[in-house]
Amino acid sequence: MIQEAARRLKAGLCVAMPTETVYGLFCDSTNESALASVYAMKGRPSSNPLIAHVLDVAMAKRTTFGFDARAEKLAAKFWPGPLAMVLPRRPEIAAVGVGGRGTVAVRVPAHPVVLAVLQAFGGALSAPSANRSGKVSPTTPQHVAHEFSHIEDLLILDGGPCDIGIESTVLDLSRARPMVLRPGAIGEEDITPLIGPVVMPHLTKQDASPGTMAKHYAPSVVCEVVQSSALESKLAKHAGRAAVLAFANDEVAAPHIKIEMPIDAYEYAQRFYAALREADACEATAVLIVAPQERNGVWVAIHDRIRRAGA
Ligand code: TXA
Ligand code: MG
Repeated sequence: MIQEAARRLKAGLCVAMPTETVYGLFCDSTNESALASVYAMKGRPSSNPLIAHVLDVAMAKRTTFGFDARAEKLAAKFWPGPLAMVLPRRPEIAAVGVGGRGTVAVRVPAHPVVLAVLQAFGGALSAPSANRSGKVSPTTPQHVAHEFSHIEDLLILDGGPCDIGIESTVLDLSRARPMVLRPGAIGEEDITPLIGPVVMPHLTKQDASPGTMAKHYAPSVVCEVVQSSALESKLAKHAGRAAVLAFANDEVAAPHIKIEMPIDAYEYAQRFYAALREADACEATAVLIVAPQERNGVWVAIHDRIRRAGA
């Protein structure tokens, strides 16, 4: 399957593969028509850049300019892993794959399947999450198959459910002050000891990454974030049948449906997108998400995804 994936990628086709964060829809980062077909399959706006996945630091340096001491330190600590670094782009990386920008986000994914394909392919592979634009990211091969059931002959490599479950941290190193464009499992507190202070614009509601505008990662019915203390009255007033992502302590009475969420941040992240899909599938009239109390560490990224699901 690894060789078949590499063969297809060389032929300009796209292949869905697991990473440790979410499943991606991969293609050759240097092939304009392959990149265009990924945008078309997703219905993704052409201005929204893709992350280039690389095998190692050496390949990252062949993809970017200015892979400096900060990038080296971060890579040594977090690669392979859920950190994408935005740096000036080398011309080999096609402009259509980065929305015409002068930069490219690079990361080494921590999953044996995609690493084996990167090795066999021998170059950078661009991939967005393998979902239609604006929809919930896939964390299993079944989710990918469901998103693209209308596409014939899409090769989907099965690497089981994703470990992390939410997308990578996107860190922009191309500007004077490094900025987290999208929070992920690697948080501010992990990054600053290595490279000093970083700007966290999503906390100030200013969005710098085009794909991080509100209303993203969203289920198809009305989705709303509620405080635990307001849940009971909210449900009492709701005329239909709500699906609720709630914690063990939250009371959800019939006809509403409770989808119980873990209290551990890593487990919550791992479960989140699958839970949103389940909520969507039970044909509820609304999806409610009980806001977690904690706001530190991985919860920062979880709150970001919850806010966007509910936007
Ligand atoms: O975990 C992940 O990052 C997954 C797996 C497949 O690697 N990929 C992923 O890709 O989430 P996507 O396309 O769904 O989200 C990439 C995000 C978008 O918000 C995009 O705007 C931002 O990264 N991004 C990518 N390249 C950028 C660049 N050159 N400058 C600014 N933002 C960039
Ligand atoms: Mg995405």
